[in-house]
Amino acid sequence: MIVSIRHAEPDDYDRIITSVDAWWGGRRMAGMLPRLFFIHFRPWTFVAVHEDAIVGFLAAFRSQTDSSQVYCHFIGVDPGWRGQGIGEALYQRLFVEAASQGCREVLSVTAPSNHGSISFHTRMGFAPLPGPCSKREIPYTPAYDGPGGDRVRFRKPLIEPPVHSPSIAD
Ligand SMILES: CC(C)(COP(=O)(O)OP(=O)(O)OC[C@H]1O[C@@H](n2cnc3c(N)ncnc32)[C@H](O)[C@@H]1OP(=O)(O)O)[C@@H](O)C(=O)NCCC(=O)NCCS
Repeated sequence: MIVSIRHAEPDDYDRIITSVDAWWGGRRMAGMLPRLFFIHFRPWTFVAVHEDAIVGFLAAFRSQTDSSQVYCHFIGVDPGWRGQGIGEALYQRLFVEAASQGCREVLSVTAPSNHGSISFHTRMGFAPLPGPCSKREIPYTPAYDGPGGDRVRFRKPLIEPPVHSPSIAD
């Protein structure tokens, strides 16, 4: 099995968007992933590819408010491909890209109920920023993204440029 990570192409959007809700366990997520990530933020959007299949993606962008920050909006891996390091490879590619451009930290948010995402982000070196509430000892901010939009706010500092591994194989 060889999976490679590359920058997204605009046409990749059409191949991903119909799978997004299923990859998020049936949650309605597709509406939060507009095509613009695959056009205007291509330098920060990556796909994981096995043969002709897209098996994961990461959509991010550099903050226009603080250029030392990169924000990861979405990261998802095909359920049939999880637990094999693809999510980690996508994040490592983003970390390398961000560090090489002088960025100092990567930010992300996730729902306090998304325990898998919280565990994954913690494993990737993210730490939760302080919040007024906590669940399972993880701080979160209620209604951060509006009513019903409670969020854990994650931050990962980029101290040293990590080693670049463009593909994973076994
Ligand atoms: C979260 C997600 C991207 C992880 O992708 P993945 O390819 O399975 O992750 P990896 O195999 O690279 O795992 C990297 C590490 O995170 C850990 N991890 C990943 N998912 C985890 C989970 N659900 N629970 C606990 N730990 C998890 C792995 O055990 C691994 O740690 P290890 O090296 O110590 O074994 C994937 O489960 C997914 O797409 N989930 C649905 C979408 C989602 O919630 N995205 C995040 C919010 S935008």
